[in-house]
Amino acid sequence: MSIYTNHRKIMLIGPMGAGKTSLGKRLAAQLKWCFVDTDHVICQKTGVDIPTIFHSEGEQGFRKREHEALLSTVQASGDAVVACGGGIILRPENRRLLGAQFLVVFLDTSVPRQLERIRHDRNRPLAQRPDLKEYLIQMREERLAFYEGLADIRLDTDSNRFHLLLQQLHQQVLQWL
Ligand code: S3P
Repeated sequence: MSIYTNHRKIMLIGPMGAGKTSLGKRLAAQLKWCFVDTDHVICQKTGVDIPTIFHSEGEQGFRKREHEALLSTVQASGDAVVACGGGIILRPENRRLLGAQFLVVFLDTSVPRQLERIRHDRNRPLAQRPDLKEYLIQMREERLAFYEGLADIRLDTDSNRFHLLLQQLHQQVLQWL
C-alpha cells in the first residue's frame, strides 16, 4: 500500500521496446484497472509530442517533466498500471518514489530485439541516431543495475509471442496482489 494514495499501482519499467505500453494496456484491461503512460501524461499536459519537448527543452527539460508526470500519476486515486518511460529510473527522486511504494515490474529485452522494435519509430528522440546499437548497449550498461535494483518482478520480453508474455505477466502480478 502506498503512502501517497490508498490505491494500488503497478509500475512497469525497462528499456525502450520492452513492451511496457503494449503489455501494460492489456494487463490493465484484464485487471479492470486504469492504464497510464508517463510519456502520454507529459504530452497531454504540454499539448505537444515527445520529440518536440526534447527539441525545445533538451533531455533535462524532458526529465523534469517526466518527474512531474510520475508524481502526479502516483498521487492520483484509482488502481492503475503505469508504463514508465525507459529513462525514468535515472533520477534518484524517481527511484525513491518507485521503490518504496509500488509493485515494480521490470520488463527486459535484449538490444537486438530493441533494435528490431524501435529502429523505425520516429517518436523516440534518443533512438534517432546512426550508432543506435552501440548507444542502446551503453544505455543498458548505465541503467541495468537501476532496473534490477527496483524490480519486484522481472520478465524477459524477447519473445514475440505477445499473448504468452501477457499471460506470464498477469500470473506473476496476481501473486503479489
Ligand atoms: C526514453 C524512453 C521513452 C521516452 C523518451 C526517453 C528513455 O519511453 O520516455 O523517449 O530515456 O529510455 P519508452 O521507454 O516508453 O520508449
